Order: sequence, then structure tokens, then C-alpha cells
Amino acid sequence: MPQPMSKRYSITTPIYYVNSVPHIGTGLTTFASDVTKRYQQMLGKEVWFLTGTDENGQKVSETAEAAGRDPMEFVTEIADTFKEIWRGMDIQFDDFIRTTEPRHIKAAQAFFTKLKENGHIYAGKYEGWYDVSTETWYKEADLVDGKSPDGNEVRWVEEDNWFFKLSAFQDQLLSHIEANPEFILPASRKNEVVSFINQGLRDVCISRSNSGWGVPIAGDEDKVIYVWFDALINYVAATGWPDKGWEDFWPADVQWMGKDILTRFHATLWPAMLMGMDLPLPKHLVGHGWLLMGGDKISKSKGNVVAPLELAKKYAEESGADLPLAIDAVRHYMGATLPFENDSTFTQDDFNLRCNVDLANDLGNALNRSLTMAHKFADGVVPDAEPEESAIKAIQAAKAKYEAAMSGFRIEKAVDAALDVPRFLNKYVDDRAPWALAKNSDPALDSVLRSMLLCLRAAEGMIKPVMPSTATAIAKQLGLDPISSWDQIGDPASMPSGTKLEQPSPLFPRLDIKKQQQNQQKQKKTDKPKKEKKMKPKFEVPAEIEFTDFMKVKLQIGRVLEAEEIEGSKKLLKIQVKVGDEQRQVLAGIKGAYEPMDLIGRQVVVATNLKTAKLMGHESQGMILAADDADGSAILLQPDKESPEGTSVH
Ligand code: MSP
Repeated sequence: MPQPMSKRYSITTPIYYVNSVPHIGTGLTTFASDVTKRYQQMLGKEVWFLTGTDENGQKVSETAEAAGRDPMEFVTEIADTFKEIWRGMDIQFDDFIRTTEPRHIKAAQAFFTKLKENGHIYAGKYEGWYDVSTETWYKEADLVDGKSPDGNEVRWVEEDNWFFKLSAFQDQLLSHIEANPEFILPASRKNEVVSFINQGLRDVCISRSNSGWGVPIAGDEDKVIYVWFDALINYVAATGWPDKGWEDFWPADVQWMGKDILTRFHATLWPAMLMGMDLPLPKHLVGHGWLLMGGDKISKSKGNVVAPLELAKKYAEESGADLPLAIDAVRHYMGATLPFENDSTFTQDDFNLRCNVDLANDLGNALNRSLTMAHKFADGVVPDAEPEESAIKAIQAAKAKYEAAMSGFRIEKAVDAALDVPRFLNKYVDDRAPWALAKNSDPALDSVLRSMLLCLRAAEGMIKPVMPSTATAIAKQLGLDPISSWDQIGDPASMPSGTKLEQPSPLFPRLDIKKQQQNQQKQKKTDKPKKEKKMKPKFEVPAEIEFTDFMKVKLQIGRVLEAEEIEGSKKLLKIQVKVGDEQRQVLAGIKGAYEPMDLIGRQVVVATNLKTAKLMGHESQGMILAADDADGSAILLQPDKESPEGTSVH
């Protein structure tokens, strides 16, 4: 017998105007909704995630006509592109509503009629300014230099129209906001909404003359419903309202949006409309900040659009990562930098840095080192031993931090919490040094290895809402099915003893940022005549030396922990390297060839028994080995595969 339906955890995005295709900025809201969905599903909820397109605007039909296109054909094409791009970004929406669909038109008309019957709509005359690009009405006093407050062109409109009695809901709105402190998030925007309402709400003109595009008003077909009024109704239209069954989907648990459409529309007009219909209000309205480019809004007209899938493809090509993982890298970037209260700025360098530091270093090293050591010291099988307390505690702390972040819709904090696990794991490996335990046949080795693998498993689960393909890839290397429920994270049973592990394979190869920059510089230099390069050795290298002399040099594998420039030095970088259990400071003449940031996490070969030297006032306790490039710059030597720090080199 089919189970009775229960109320879903419902999530909505705004419906997008079909005047341009999605970019990384518009993608943010949809991505945030997708992460919310995947997290709630891991918590065991049945989720419904709605997105769609806002197609009834006056601007839409004008744009289509200007392009000599049939408006319906034009909007269908763009709506299809939206769906395709969202799917390409691994966005799992459950429903996609278009406001030109019959189900929406039917609901919008019924909503209008019912609200009128309830006494909240009246006929009047509208005289005022209209901004077609944002479909917003303005009073004379709102205009700045004859334009909208955003600087858009406005046109004068004088029409007999229908009005919604928004002013009548002022007190009810304020008391709802006060009684539900989490209704509008972030809190700073809630305060903006409260002061907007306190300035006094005006009734809203909710019709326009019918120019052949839009939802005609039942019984007054000369008019169409004002596009914002019409668009907001999509949220209940998609639930099947007014037909039975809509209660399974409404009210929304969270309605995600950008800050620009929160105050006037979603936090004022929309709840008042619902109040007038005696329909329940959404639980949370979240208005996040904007993603900017060089301080500007991202827009087609500014020519600064970054398409999410293009960004992923470029990263896949440059790094060698598989495309689904490169898409995850873009999702990770969006999540990690999601502007909640303030705006954030997209730069390619920031994106590259996130890929190298968070994904290649923190996550990649944790995976690679743990699996390598499990193969080396436990034959690639999860040992039968209890995980250590410190690892369990670290996982539980990260999990609690993630849960707290998500309960306030702070995706960027949740991303950080998930990364706490691989960060802990890398440190744990350094501290517990499994290679030393193995050497001393220490019985703690098995527990340490099990703990490391349990941390990896937890990291896999915690990155899943943001990076689903990466989670699957990690699970595969761990020889298991992906984690599906949040409870499994940190549970030793999720990483059973005896599981056969796969060989590690890097998921996010490092982007050689310096090399990219060098290639560009080299390209420039090819035009200039080349100077004869003198590769003068600093001292005479003897033709032959004794083997015992060579063996006097102690060479070991080290890992770069920190790297920084030295003020006043053109060549030197000051590097902290971990070799065995100790940390050494080494100065290396590799500035110009490597960015300090790029070195962190990298393994190197270090000569560790040279006498301490002092250069430019800084001590150097060793030498990092590098080859000379043809133009004299350094090429660092690196072990072919990850080796425990301190391993000797011959
Ligand atoms: N059609 C209306 C919404 C109606 S909902 C009933 C609309 N559409 S929009 O396409 O202009 O914007 C949709 C969403 O994208 C908004 O939440 C907006 O804030 C968001 N963003 C558009 N560009 C953005 C950035 N650069 N950064 C973050 N979000 C941005 O408004």
C-alpha cells in the first residue's frame, strides 16, 4: 500500500528572469539551495526543491521582439538553458516552474480572485514611474536624477489598475517578524526590513494593461497581473495549489534569495499576500550578499560574466582533474566564499588558491597520505583496532560546527567545518607519525591507521552536500559505498575493519599557478633578443669524489609547512620544513620560480646535516634540492609518491 505523503522539507530559489543565462552570481542562490537539500536528505528528510524561470515580464517580450523572435520560443530556449546549466552544475532540483505554464497561470488567476474576494484588492488609478528592467514601481520622490535608485531608465505610467492593500498588513508583518526572530536572515537584513516597514507601507499596484504578454486577470482580461505579484505566486503554484495536496509542499522551510529582492518583495509583499489568503508563511527567508567582479555587479552588459561550467572546464584542463570533480571545485569555491552578510568578490586567483590550498593540499594530502600509509603499514586493509579518542573528538567537533552552521544557513561556515577534518588529519599524521610507530613495532599503529581512515570517511560524508562527486570518488578509494546518512559520520562502523582499500589516486592535481604566470612572461620574452646565459658554477665541482664523501650528506624527505618572502631579498624564500619529528627553517633561492603559497604542503628533498648558515640575517638549517632550469630558475625535486617525512634519500 502506498505510504501517505508527509510534509516535505521545502526549499525554493527565486525564479530567474529569462533575459540572460546563469552566471556564477545567479548560480549562488541555486547552489545554496542544492547544498541545503543534500544536507537535509542526509539528515533523513524528504526534500522538495523548487526553482524556475520568471517569464512574464514586460522586458522579456520587448527583448524577444527586438531580437525578431517569437517570445514563447525565445523564453523556452532560455528556460531550457537554465535547466541544462543547473544540471551541469549537479543541482538536483525536484521541480522547475515556468510562469508561462498553464499550472502557474491557473494558480495566479485563482490567487488574484481569492485575494479580491477576501477584500484585499481594490480598483484605483495608477500614476507613477515604472522601471521595466527590474519591474518595479517608483514614486517621484524615489527617483535619483530622473532614474531609478539603481540608475535604470524609468517610464511614466498612467493607468486604471488594481491595487493590493499592503498598507493594511503593516502591524501584522511587524509582529510576525518580532515573534519569529529567525524568519528573516541574516539578522542585519531583518533590521533593514523592519525599518522599511516602519517608514510606512504603500498599497501596491498589481496590474498592468494587457499588451499580449503576461497572465490576464480573470474577469478583466484587458489587464495582466503585475509581474512581481505574479512571480511570487509561483511558489504556491508549483505545490499544486489550489488543488488538494499542496500542504505536502507548503510552507517552504527556506526560501533562498539574493539581498536585492528580500526587503521590498519577499519579506514584505509576499508574506502580506499569504496573510491575505490565510496561507501559512515560509519558515525562513534568507537573503545572501552578492558576488561581485572587481567591485561591479556581474552582468552581461558589463561583460564580466563568469559561467560556472566554463570555469570548471578551464580548471579541469589546467589541472588535469576530471570534469565532475572540477565542477565540485567550482561548487566548493561558491560554498566557501558564499557571501552571507557582506558581498564577496570573485577573482581567478582566489579560485585557484582555493583549489590548491583546500582541495589539493588539505583534502588531497590527507587522502593520499592516509591511503599510502595504510597500504605500506597495513597491506591496504582497514586494521582491526579501536580508533583513538582524539580523532573521534575532532570529528564530533567538526560535525557539531557543521550542524550549527547549517541551522543558520551559513554554507560558508559549514564548508570550513568540513575542511576541519582533513586539516586535523594532516596534523594528526604529523603528530602520531605512523612511520615511526611502524619502525618501533608500536602496537598503537593499528589504532592510528584506523583513526586516519575514519577521519577520511568522515571528511567524505561532510563534503558530500557541497562536493557530491568528490565524496563518491573518496568512498571508492576507501573501498566502500558513499556515506548516505549524517549519523554515519564519525561512527567507527562506517569504516569497518577488514575493508580492502584501493590505491590512492590524486583527485585535485595542483594547479601550477607560477608556471602559468611564467608561461605568459616567457611568451612576452620570446620577442626580445636573448642574452647569453652564463651558467657559472659557484665553485669547481671535482671530477670525481669518494663514495664515502657522497654518503656524508644526509638527504631526507621533508614537507613544507610554511613559506614566506624575505624582505629585501630577490632570490630567497624562508621555508619551514617538517623532517621526521622536527621542524627546520631553510632558506632557498627559489623566489620567482615558486609562490610561497604554492609550496605549502609540498614534499621536498632536504640536505639536513649541513652546518647552520646565516643569510640576510636569517638562519638556514639545511638545503632544499632543486635542479637548474635552462634560464637559471629552480625546479624543485619531489618524491615520485608521498613518503613519510624524514625518509632518507640516497
Ligand atoms: N525574477 C526575479 C525574482 C522573482 S522571485 C519570485 C529576479 N530575477 S533575477 O534573475 O534578476 O535574479 C534572481 C536572483 O539572482 C536574485 O536572488 C538575485 O539576488 C540573484 N543574483 C543575481 N546576480 C547575483 C550576483 N552577482 N550575486 C549573488 N546573487 C545574484 O530578481
